[in-house]
Amino acid sequence: MQGYYSKILRTEHSLGISVSISISISVSGVGGERVAKPSFGRGNGRRRRVTRRAGISMEVGGLDSEGRKFNNAGEMWTEQVGDPNKKTDWYRQGVGYWEGVKASVDGVLGGYGHVDKADIVGSEVFLNTLLSERFTNAAAGSSNQHHLVALDCGSGIGRVTKNLLIRFFNEVDLLEPVSHFLETARESLAPEKLMASDMHKATNFFCVPLQEFTPDAGRYDVIWVQWCIGHLTDDDFVSFFKRAKVGLKPGGIFVLKENIARSGFVLDNVDRSITRSDSYFKDLFRQCGLHLYKSKDQKGFPEELFAVKMYALTTDLPKRVHNTRSKGHRNRPGIIK
Ligand SMILES: C[S@@+](CC[C@H](N)C(=O)[O-])C[C@H]1O[C@@H](n2cnc3c(N)ncnc32)[C@H](O)[C@@H]1O
Repeated sequence: MQGYYSKILRTEHSLGISVSISISISVSGVGGERVAKPSFGRGNGRRRRVTRRAGISMEVGGLDSEGRKFNNAGEMWTEQVGDPNKKTDWYRQGVGYWEGVKASVDGVLGGYGHVDKADIVGSEVFLNTLLSERFTNAAAGSSNQHHLVALDCGSGIGRVTKNLLIRFFNEVDLLEPVSHFLETARESLAPEKLMASDMHKATNFFCVPLQEFTPDAGRYDVIWVQWCIGHLTDDDFVSFFKRAKVGLKPGGIFVLKENIARSGFVLDNVDRSITRSDSYFKDLFRQCGLHLYKSKDQKGFPEELFAVKMYALTTDLPKRVHNTRSKGHRNRPGIIK
């Protein structure tokens, strides 16, 4: 059996203020199969003003999952992926981590399979709003629907496609670099296993990482990117979204759903990913030439987890930026303008 536990790590912030970060540690069980992922813990910190410097998206300090401090993201990236060999290792170890994880909901959710329902409900509300605003007659229940196509990036076993996207989209393509995850997705999304009608199907299964993927031009209404972008370096994050823009139909949107660090970033030494803060993401969106159409906080997750946010991003300037952040949530990071 596999083991899994969380612990609170107390550390000192660079400003001399004591903060805590919650990290969840994965441990190998008998047979060496790992099921837990460490990046679901909540990172705390204190906000600082952000300045931009060419090639470095954030000047705010960060931590790794053992509490080691970095002065800024540039310092961390130089250490982690500063030469081509290190970058190759970064991606190989990231995928390698997931290759050791069981192809199950609990596996892809780092031992937190029970948050699946709240996650899907939160996403569904967000998606329904987007579809009704951006694609007339496309919201669930409408009888006069367009032929909608989505891409599920870093799809894992197809959890998001199966529980959400396939109900809204006529076609869903899945992209996932770990082959045993993608095969599980293919099996569970086989037409005979789907309750949905013939009008809804999983079409393409791309076994490739995001940093190597370019979508077909104009295929997608929505490109959904959930809990995988932390595996990409800042440079690859920006070049992926720039390339992926061509994959959107006119009026199409990206949805990014991710863990949010309270400040700066938290580097996960085990699965080679980083959790970025809201302001870090916004800085990267600017570099991608993307506009924030709407954002929303995920609700109903256990307290020990990172905050989770959904961002809807457009290539065109939205008429009005909506922010549906909930009020009154403790420990929420402030947006740094
Ligand atoms: C936490 S799981 C989330 C899976 C799925 N999005 C979900 O919400 O159920 C992270 C996923 O990211 C995938 N991943 C890791 N590195 C990746 C990369 N470079 N490009 C795309 N996906 C990657 C993993 O294989 C894994 O399936």
